[in-house]
Amino acid sequence: SIDLEVSHALLEWYDRHARDLPWRVGPVERAAGVRPDPYHVWLSEIMLQQTTVAAVRDYFHRFLARWPTVEALAAAPDQQVMGEWAGLGYYARARNLLKCARVVVEEFNGRFPGTHDALLKLPGIGPYTAAAIAAIAFDRPETVMDGNVERVMARLFDIHEPLPGSKPVLKERAAALTPAVRPGDYAQAVMDLGATICTPKSPACGICPLREACRARVSGTAADLPKKSPK
Ligand code: ADE
Repeated sequence: SIDLEVSHALLEWYDRHARDLPWRVGPVERAAGVRPDPYHVWLSEIMLQQTTVAAVRDYFHRFLARWPTVEALAAAPDQQVMGEWAGLGYYARARNLLKCARVVVEEFNGRFPGTHDALLKLPGIGPYTAAAIAAIAFDRPETVMDGNVERVMARLFDIHEPLPGSKPVLKERAAALTPAVRPGDYAQAVMDLGATICTPKSPACGICPLREACRARVSGTAADLPKKSPK
């Protein structure tokens, strides 16, 4: 099917071009089926809310160096954590980070739950983050929707209905594409494609692994999508 061709092409591309990010495992481990540590995935996803990968890298390294486990983070004095967060902004994230670490230690023996529904109940974890952790750390076939994924779907299926009204349609398309094999790698592949090739301006359609399947590329509309409703 066309869906399987698309997800397969994306996974092959990811195997060759995945960004080297500190919360990921390397290509050799990944090929051996090793999953990234849920604590690392959670910490990175909280930091990445409203913040770029470039800005997050150093903070992520400093947090892990200082608090290598969720137990260590849960035991940290609030002021130390707030101080280490300084500069990242949106400080409610840091307060919820500590709350969440303490719940995971006290109620889950220091092990993050592996399902979307259980993750969603934790402080600071909304639908996006729950799906991202379930997919990336636990390889569950969750549909992870962020701005990158919305843009890739709008272009792949040449959807001209503007955001935010098009969100349900975009999510439906994304869900249909999510493969049963390697859903965690697939979720990160779509994000990487959106960040490096299917970019908001001047997308690099000529080197896109989905160029044969992409309807917006055929129509010449890729750079104009997704459309947005006037505020
Ligand atoms: N943005 C948010 N989460 C990400 C991830 N896991 N990989 C790449 N970009 C992301």
